[in-house]
Amino acid sequence: MRIVLLGPPGAGKGTQAARIIEKYGTPHISTGDILREAVKQKTELGKTAESYMSKGELVPDSVVIGIVAERLKNPDCASGFLLDGFPRTVAQAVALDETLKENHMELDAVISLEVDEDEVVRRLSSRKVCSKFGAIYSTAGGAVAPETCESCQGQVITRTDDQPEAILRRLQVYKDQTEPLIEYYSKAGILKPVSATGSVDEVFSRVVEALS
Ligand code: AP5
Repeated sequence: MRIVLLGPPGAGKGTQAARIIEKYGTPHISTGDILREAVKQKTELGKTAESYMSKGELVPDSVVIGIVAERLKNPDCASGFLLDGFPRTVAQAVALDETLKENHMELDAVISLEVDEDEVVRRLSSRKVCSKFGAIYSTAGGAVAPETCESCQGQVITRTDDQPEAILRRLQVYKDQTEPLIEYYSKAGILKPVSATGSVDEVFSRVVEALS
């Protein structure tokens, strides 16, 4: 299956992606994770990306499109993939269509996670992540996140772009640059809107239903 996960920051894309790849066995391609790893490794890409990411701005299309096009050439993507956080602009969506066409592939579904703004601000303000492999934790409702990751013992931290100012900027950027993709994929006939409120399990059941 070739799937795109769309939704505002904090909608639960990473959380649902972990479940989807476990169930369907598709490779998970998260541009956010790829860029954060580059920042951590202090590569040229990471140095370019960091200044945009920390402010909640998008990394330029010219940078991100090339990364995904290269990744999709990997043999593990031949029978399917899950794109999380890409595309994020109409230019990225058009480039993705072209890359897929060149490789005789088509998207099967675009899952659009829908959740209101107050809820995403709540979720992002209480998110903690593993600094090694990105496992996601939440301190919402008084929950306690571990100091080290339960899977790999990496340090559990707050993402730099989960500061209040960056959260608000990311939401604005989503509205201006990413929301138009809802119409783009609706016109293509592959948009599957899914309510992302309720528990993680409830949302996952809806995702599975949308994919069936
Ligand atoms: P990216 O990492 O993609 O961030 P994002 O889209 O802002 O999304 P998040 O990772 O913040 O949220 P999520 O939807 O994955 O939610 P999560 O599952 O963690 O991108 C980061 C940056 O990289 C961008 O700002 C940009 O600079 C750059 N970038 C990336 N891709 C790019 C591209 N294509 N082009 C240009 N730049 C790009 O959940 C959030 C919290 O909510 C967690 O604590 C979780 O436990 C909790 N939660 C999840 N589901 C539920 C639920 N059902 N109920 C209650 N809590 C829940």
